[in-house]
Amino acid sequence: MRSLCVDLGQRSYPIHTGTGILADPSLFAPALSKGPVAVVTDSNVAPLYLETLQKTLKALDKPSLTIILPAGEESKSLDNIQEIAGRLLSAGYGRDCTLCALGGGVVGDITGFAAAVYQRGVAYIQVPTTLLAMVDSSVGGKTGVNHPLGKNMIGAFYQPQAVIADTDTLDSLPEREFRSGLAEVIKYGLINDQGFFSWLEDHMDAVLAREPDALTKVIRHSCKDKADIVARDELEGGLRAILNLGHTFGHAIEAATGYGQYLHGEAVAIGMVMAADLSRRLDLIRESEQDRIYALVKATGLPTLAPALPVADYLGFMRVDKKAEEGRVRFILLRGIGSAVITGDVPPAAVTQTLQAFMEHGHA
Ligand code: NAD
Ligand code: GLY
Repeated sequence: MRSLCVDLGQRSYPIHTGTGILADPSLFAPALSKGPVAVVTDSNVAPLYLETLQKTLKALDKPSLTIILPAGEESKSLDNIQEIAGRLLSAGYGRDCTLCALGGGVVGDITGFAAAVYQRGVAYIQVPTTLLAMVDSSVGGKTGVNHPLGKNMIGAFYQPQAVIADTDTLDSLPEREFRSGLAEVIKYGLINDQGFFSWLEDHMDAVLAREPDALTKVIRHSCKDKADIVARDELEGGLRAILNLGHTFGHAIEAATGYGQYLHGEAVAIGMVMAADLSRRLDLIRESEQDRIYALVKATGLPTLAPALPVADYLGFMRVDKKAEEGRVRFILLRGIGSAVITGDVPPAAVTQTLQAFMEHGHA
């Protein structure tokens, strides 16, 4: 087991990673408030890992209420915030309770938001069980739900008490979900860690084979990169926006296809190769760098083609982006592998060319 810290002054918290740690009460104890615990999980994860977590909490004399949401992105809704609050109120839970998010990014995001707003804020713990949640969504305190008009449009920055990532849970993760998580891993190499990008190029076979050493390196390195960025810009006043590389195109792909056709990481993967293409069109990166990015995303088995839709549809969805300022879409682009830049100064014609190139041919 290894721990690292997200350094946020009074709101600092540990990220524990290791095998079998879901069964370790000593990691949970310091993160729990005085009162009772409610575990929020989903219908896929509950049969796999709920019993182990319940035993751990019982060992701490914390029998828990369980709230099981249907698996899937549709569960990240305000209706389910109402449902969670209703269950907590019916059970008489007060401000001294702790919520425990056992699952992927969907469970983590909605549980974190429920914790942020229930009785104006209660404690919560992230217990991520997907690769995406371990390397990204469980760290950094972005919580929220979707609105029919846009993804993650209602939410709060609200940090957990701890992140406890048991890598054994990845054994049951379907291959497609695993690869989807790797898109966010590649993102860290692209935005600020050239050495990590090169390491991924050399070791992707071992990562895809889920070799324990390679997997551990991927998770710990990603968490450290994310923790460093969050510690420098918790509320996304500037720097933190680079974590959205690929998301401007990616969120548009998810929204335009009705959230379900593409997994989040798959849409981000397509978005990242499109951002690389746009960066090359603006002479920010060389063609050889664009080729390397495309090759790594391909080698990971992630998609690189955007669904064929009218350009105007994409542009419409891209405007509904939290990074937009004064109605202007802002992009995260690359100034070489390992260096990202945030800009609203992109000629619309170049954006259209990138969109057209990826709908028609893939690698422009
Ligand atoms: P998810 O939570 O839907 O999990 C993916 C699927 O895997 C689900 O069907 C789930 O039931 C199943 N599952 C989870 N753990 C499993 C396991 N160990 N074994 C077998 N099946 C398992 O999706 P995700 O990819 O984890 O997260 C995507 C969500 O995260 C999106 O809503 C996205 O917006 C959000 N996100 C948030 C942040 C953030 O900073 N808060 C960052 C990135 C993504
Ligand atoms: N996943 C983007 C962020 O946490 O800022």
